[in-house]
Amino acid sequence: MNMPDGGVRTAPRPIDPRALRSCMGQFATGVTVITCRRGDIVHGTTVNAFTSVSLDPPLALVALDRRSRAGALLLEDGGYVVNILDETQRDLAMHFARPMPGPVPWVDESGPHPRLAGTVAHLVCRPWQVHDAGDHTLHIGGVEEFESRPGRPLLFHRGAFPELAPDDSAGAWSLCLDGMDPVEHFHARDETDETDETRD
Ligand SMILES: Cc1cc2nc3c(=O)[nH]c(=O)nc-3n(C[C@H](O)[C@H](O)[C@H](O)COP(=O)(O)O)c2cc1C
Repeated sequence: MNMPDGGVRTAPRPIDPRALRSCMGQFATGVTVITCRRGDIVHGTTVNAFTSVSLDPPLALVALDRRSRAGALLLEDGGYVVNILDETQRDLAMHFARPMPGPVPWVDESGPHPRLAGTVAHLVCRPWQVHDAGDHTLHIGGVEEFESRPGRPLLFHRGAFPELAPDDSAGAWSLCLDGMDPVEHFHARDETDETDETRD
């Protein structure tokens, strides 16, 4: 592994890929379907390796298997849509995870950015950067449009789709750099520190 200090560290080997996948499965995610149009082709694929990357500029990332059709299509010119599935859309998640026929609630199917109806949110992205990452490729997209709708997301954990627990409290972002009013928050904490005479 190449380290930032220029050194190289070797990971202990061998790592069992199935055990690693099982370990990674402890990380609960939502489920997206990445949709795109390339010429006459309208394509979708189910992806849970999706994350927000940056707010300024607005960037989001998806990791796609090199062997996937979606991975090849996203390397071609054109944008794509990240559809964040609703908790009622398990069948749609499975539909786009393996080739099978079935009704798909397309929106703008004949347009440049076909997407899915009934999702909790969608983001229209344009390719920004692509990085090689082993058997996957990381596609970082610039977010051009987005819309969030009321609803609860479909979850994915340890290979299953568990139900989201009822809402309890919000506010986990309040202490974070990109939370609401983070500057005010950190200033408030600095002022307290300055008047704290018990501090070493
Ligand atoms: C819940 C779930 C999450 C998945 N996440 C990913 C993912 O993050 N990246 C990926 O490349 N494939 C992922 N897959 C597998 C693809 O959906 C699957 O390989 C699909 O057949 C690829 O289609 P394509 O080759 O037509 O693009 C996931 C499948 C499921 C069921």
